[in-house]
Amino acid sequence: MLRSLDYARNDTNNKGREMKEEIFKIISNENIAKDTFELNLEGDASSIRRAGQFVNIKIDGFFLRRPISICDYTDKSMTLIYKVVGEGTKAISEMKPNQELKILIPLGNGFDTSFSGNSPLLVAGGVGVPPIYLLAKKLLKEGKSPSVILGFNSKDELFYEEKFKTLGINPIITTVDASYGIKGFVTDAITDIEYSYLYTCGPSPMLKALHEKSNTSGQFSFEARMACGFGACMGCSIKTRDSYKRICKEGPVLFKEEILW
Ligand SMILES: Cc1cc2nc3c(=O)[nH]c(=O)nc-3n(C[C@H](O)[C@H](O)[C@H](O)COP(=O)(O)OP(=O)(O)OC[C@H]3O[C@@H](n4cnc5c(N)ncnc54)[C@H](O)[C@@H]3O)c2cc1C
Ligand code: FES
Repeated sequence: MLRSLDYARNDTNNKGREMKEEIFKIISNENIAKDTFELNLEGDASSIRRAGQFVNIKIDGFFLRRPISICDYTDKSMTLIYKVVGEGTKAISEMKPNQELKILIPLGNGFDTSFSGNSPLLVAGGVGVPPIYLLAKKLLKEGKSPSVILGFNSKDELFYEEKFKTLGINPIITTVDASYGIKGFVTDAITDIEYSYLYTCGPSPMLKALHEKSNTSGQFSFEARMACGFGACMGCSIKTRDSYKRICKEGPVLFKEEILW
């Protein structure tokens, strides 16, 4: 029987820390790479438990909230990184310091670090980098020695290399167009690395390729289209080996062994 990652139901540490709507004030909203923004917010983030959890942002004029992964946090602040891909993220990119956002927090199960072993491999593609950055911080705090691979299409999309270096991790960078680091995909960089466990977040084709190529167990974080974001509408359900799971509630992190492609 697979161990469930649905910590919200099973983790006694979560008592009294259920999802709620909080008001966050924008401290800064800066362009850090091509179409990519770092949003620093002030507000109550003390309910966040794990790397890989996400928030759902209400944007004026939009019916559906937009889900974004938590990149970093303290009890009173939170950092998100988002890529402008459509009208919702464009509207966020135009917001200014001191404006306020209504945010559902925290959502999803997040990565379980108890499986990591001593030398886990963390692989992120594009805007999969933010939750992997927070995971790296958590694993280091637990005394583990993570290796990190970050994949981008091109050098102009690269961000957070220096932030990982500040943690003491020298990330391997891959770019599809060979403008920086190793030419190719993240899977081109994993062959020479020995690792105890895999954690990954990024676009679906990258997750599928890693699922085939990785030689340990692991946890994979998925980005599904979402409506409610907290388990009520079933709109994000996907079939897994055992059952249907809602990516927003029993995910976004799934075990390698339960994933069906
Ligand atoms: C759990 C989770 C965590 C996420 N974390 C981040 C993050 O940290 N940073 C970040 O930049 N983005 C993240 N996303 C994706 C982000 O939610 C979408 O890019 C955003 O909602 C798009 O809103 P929009 O109004 O700008 O675009 P829309 O107008 O809604 O869509 C524009 C284009 O983007 C595609 N798209 C929209 N949402 C998704 C999605 N969820 N998955 C794949 N393609 C999508 C659409 O198909 C369309 O082609 C996350 C998504 C999920 C489900
Ligand atoms: S988005 Fe509604 S159940 Fe997941």
